[in-house]
Amino acid sequence: PALADLAGRHVVISAGGTREPLDPVRFLGNRSSGKQGYALARTAVARGARVTLIAANTELADPAGADVVRVETARQLHEAVLKAAADADALVMAAAVADFRPARYATGKIKKKDGEEPAPLELVRNPDILAELSAARPHAGQIVVGFAAETDDVLANGRAKLARKGCDLLVVNEVGEHKAFGSEENEAVVLAPDGTQTPVPYGPKEALADVVWDLVAQRW
Ligand code: C5P
Repeated sequence: PALADLAGRHVVISAGGTREPLDPVRFLGNRSSGKQGYALARTAVARGARVTLIAANTELADPAGADVVRVETARQLHEAVLKAAADADALVMAAAVADFRPARYATGKIKKKDGEEPAPLELVRNPDILAELSAARPHAGQIVVGFAAETDDVLANGRAKLARKGCDLLVVNEVGEHKAFGSEENEAVVLAPDGTQTPVPYGPKEALADVVWDLVAQRW
């Protein structure tokens, strides 16, 4: 990629995985490490962009040159993305966001009682940040990119998700027990609403990140 081809642009990236607390010590979470989002942040800084990285529960070193905002829950991520998105030229939602959260938060640790069956866990829907931000762009020309991890029918599910979310690009990858999560490498297909698909062969997460920025820059 050309040096500093993202100069003058503000890009907002979400990374990691949200945690939805049940009580002070327990949460519902996922296996996202945040590595793909951090690779997006590092490559965007290297290409000259101003970068806001919204990091959910990651254990990675802050990428040099990026503004890092730390969040825990989907609702905190939602708030942070909304705030940062106002003047953003691109929004890349690499974080794994919990679709649901526990309906109630117990302020004290939930106890098990002898002889009692566990109480059913009631969940409520979280906001779909990607769909909401795709529908309500703060300015024309803002490019919105989503990620989708699928375990089966990757392309068909990806196409349906791209249409449902209304974003400009959807990076789809196949996940399984030994794929993508926590790994340094990734393999993906980037889908666009005009029907084009850009395959990205198995390789470092930086390489996929550079392809994403190439496709975003083309759309600007
Ligand atoms: O629907 P699904 O979770 O598979 O979609 C994944 C994409 O949507 C990711 O880009 C993720 O960051 C985003 N997402 C979101 N808000 C949610 C759930 C997912 O922005 N509540």
